[in-house]
Amino acid sequence: MSTDAVATVILAAGKGTRMKSALPKVMHAIGGRPMVQHVLATAAALDAEKQVVVVGPDMADVAGAVAPWDTAVQENQLGTGDAVLAARSLLAGFTGTVLVLYGDTPLIRTETLRAMIAKRAETGAAVVVLGFRPDEPGGYGRLVTAPDGSLDAIVEAKEATPEQLEIDLCNSGVMAIDGAAMFDLLDAVGNDNAKGEYYLTDIVEIARSRQMRGAYIEAEEAELLGVNSRADLAVAESVLQGWLREAAMAGGATLTAPETVFFSWDTRLGQDVIVGPHVFFGPGVTVDDTAEIRAYSHLEGAHVKSSAQVGPYARLRPGAVLEAGSRVGNFVEIKNAVLGEGAKANHLSYIGDADVGAGANIGAGTITCNYDGYLKWRTKIGAGAFIGSNSALVAPITVGDGAIVGAGSTITRDVEPDALGVTRADQEEIPGAAKRFREHRAAMKKNQSK
Ligand code: UD1
Ligand code: CA
Repeated sequence: MSTDAVATVILAAGKGTRMKSALPKVMHAIGGRPMVQHVLATAAALDAEKQVVVVGPDMADVAGAVAPWDTAVQENQLGTGDAVLAARSLLAGFTGTVLVLYGDTPLIRTETLRAMIAKRAETGAAVVVLGFRPDEPGGYGRLVTAPDGSLDAIVEAKEATPEQLEIDLCNSGVMAIDGAAMFDLLDAVGNDNAKGEYYLTDIVEIARSRQMRGAYIEAEEAELLGVNSRADLAVAESVLQGWLREAAMAGGATLTAPETVFFSWDTRLGQDVIVGPHVFFGPGVTVDDTAEIRAYSHLEGAHVKSSAQVGPYARLRPGAVLEAGSRVGNFVEIKNAVLGEGAKANHLSYIGDADVGAGANIGAGTITCNYDGYLKWRTKIGAGAFIGSNSALVAPITVGDGAIVGAGSTITRDVEPDALGVTRADQEEIPGAAKRFREHRAAMKKNQSK
């Protein structure tokens, strides 16, 4: 193993009582994915070779969300030092840099972790701590630094002297530690302190007493936001949304009203994409170059290809694929369906489990009846077909290339290419009947009001 290898220990054993939730705290999502997965992805971007998430007992569902990375169980919450020790067997023999991270601090950036690793390489420090200067240092641990810029100790607020409490440089908790020394240092940590806990922070002084060095770097407070409550979760979401909006615009998309557009962590927008006001992107959406998403549209699991147009007020659900130049208009829902090149579904339709050919026109109010109460069935609409307004296509069904379905039809049998399929009661006409009806009713009303 090279000495520049990276592993992480992500602490997540806290119960998160203040979330008032049946879900472990780190499973709560921002930007459409659980907080713990944000942290794992941030470290994975550094090519971390091992990642261990430390969970409490009864947090089996976290293991599933974390896979293929590992979880280790901390049986009793005896403090942050004890929590890192839970990863011991999984990190046996690891001599690179161990990053200690937190599952409830999801906004930490890869560049910051990279800077910590660089600081360790540059100073030879056994422990590099990430510091920050919060508006209210309050209960945070304080970084006690030396004139040469190294780190002497971290004192917890509860153990700090009044002078130490004046220090505004605080411990975020995030550390980069020499993997070859880490478990020896942790073994020396005791719990003779105000909280009776094993403090991870004690390893800084222990390292110094063994002629090793401590160092620190600083980061912005926003990145170190810890989530303890639903209100904190909403703040983290809004910080993340701000970053995602900036990234979308930096990548060449126009957002008419960026503060009203919501992204998921994996939303991909191409160049010259235009996104109108109040658009929501759930997970798994890709929008290719020059496509336009108009106001009040809701998309998830969809691929909108180049120069296609969506909305206003459209809903694209998982499996929706809009081929180049196709259009989906207001109050149209598309699910698990491909809309071919240049095809249009402009008004009031449900297109589910369908393949719509290139250039087809889906009239207003068309419904693919894809579900019989037990199973889902597919509808195939050929290239250049024309589906008249207010038609019901009862799947499984195929409407051939170039076929026409007459408006108001309920189609239950396949329509051959270039044929006209129509199901409609014959129209009758009774001359003068409307006029006679009006006269009759007007007379009735007059008698009643007497
Ligand atoms: C810790 C730091 C403090 C720092 C602060 C930043 C220590 C001793 N103190 O304090 O210097 O300013 O974080 O937020 O490290 N956890 C476990 N198992 C445990 C204990 C904690 O997994 O046994 C996890 C918790 O889920 C939590 C994190 O570690 O996410 C921090 O623990 P917490 O008890 O909140 O530490 P603080 O007292 O806030
Ligand atoms: Ca805390």
